[in-house]
Amino acid sequence: MGDHVFVRACRGLEVPYTPIWMMRQAGRYLPEYMEIRRSVSGFLELCKTPGLAARVTVQPVERLGVDAAILFSDILVPVEAMGVHLEFREGEGPKLTYTLESLKDVDALRVPHPATTMDFVLETVRRVKEAMGGQVPLIGFSGAPFTLASYILEGGGSRHYLKTKTLMYRQPRVWHALMEKLTDTVVAYLKAQVEAGADAVQLFDSWVGALSPTDFRKYVAPYTRRIVQEVKATGVPFILFGTDTATLLDDLAAMGADVVGVDWRIELEDAVRILQGRASVQGNLDPCGLFMPKEALEKKVETILEQGRQARGHIFNLGHGILPQTDPDMAKFLVDTVHRLSKR
Ligand code: CP3
Repeated sequence: MGDHVFVRACRGLEVPYTPIWMMRQAGRYLPEYMEIRRSVSGFLELCKTPGLAARVTVQPVERLGVDAAILFSDILVPVEAMGVHLEFREGEGPKLTYTLESLKDVDALRVPHPATTMDFVLETVRRVKEAMGGQVPLIGFSGAPFTLASYILEGGGSRHYLKTKTLMYRQPRVWHALMEKLTDTVVAYLKAQVEAGADAVQLFDSWVGALSPTDFRKYVAPYTRRIVQEVKATGVPFILFGTDTATLLDDLAAMGADVVGVDWRIELEDAVRILQGRASVQGNLDPCGLFMPKEALEKKVETILEQGRQARGHIFNLGHGILPQTDPDMAKFLVDTVHRLSKR
């Protein structure tokens, strides 16, 4: 698997075409996913049923011909294992319940042992690997400490991250204790996924773009750096993902990841210039690009590929998860177009 085009692109090696994969996340755009989804009572139950989670993981590979599979799970799974109550209500985002006001509340959180508390994830990894027979690599993943902290403290999604930043600014000791604990959890969790067979890992710091560069360096960077270091020691490529990070790219490039995700709010060539060969790039089509007329999308793909050629390595992707309203045929058209236009 070390030789796969996707893994090679992560490492910045020459590849015969630009690999592409896509996160479905808010997606639900594949009818075959919706069918399995309807057979269980809730999204978390699907995550916790390895037979079904494994089937759902390989669907985009079969339907679209993407070059990597992303594990079917959720970034909030380890937070639940830490002792936070987690719910996904139909048609709403995640809802979390945990009162975190003092060091005592941080102490009460567990650093879960992945093999005992999250074996369903590891079992899904093993089953996917078995089902795919090494055909494409499997990307394991975890939420990053800042993004996970924001879900715990806000109780769900947020616009201003007011509770998160208030804790950061007013109770820095509590903040750092929480980040330490989340970091320990993420490191053990990612390592366990690699041990179970994941060929690469992605750290989702989806909401880190809410921070100024100064705050990122002070409150987040040391933890991100430690995760990259400790997980990279297993030997798999490491992808660091964030959105709204145009002003953080220089700092993200310094974390030591093999690949840095870039969204559409910055031209890919500008991102590539900022990275200065320190990492490969992943991105950066706007998920709304899949609603363009085909000719316009093709032109856009051409531009992104052209700009990606300046990078150390390029993995084509959307800047964020695919939207639920997306036509699967357009997703297939995108994959085919990326492969056709990037053939060397
Ligand atoms: O693409 C895949 O299938 C991989 C699995 C995956 C999911 N979530 C499945 C999911 C991955 C990699 C994630 C990551 C995730 N989850 C992130 C980071 C990526 C990002 O979007 O920034 C975040 C922030 C979450 C938290 C989360 N989970 C939210 C905000 C939601 C609700 C989204 C919405 O619009 O309703 C989820 C639910 C979720 N996670 C779904 C899926 C397929 C939909 C649930 C369903 O099928 O009912």
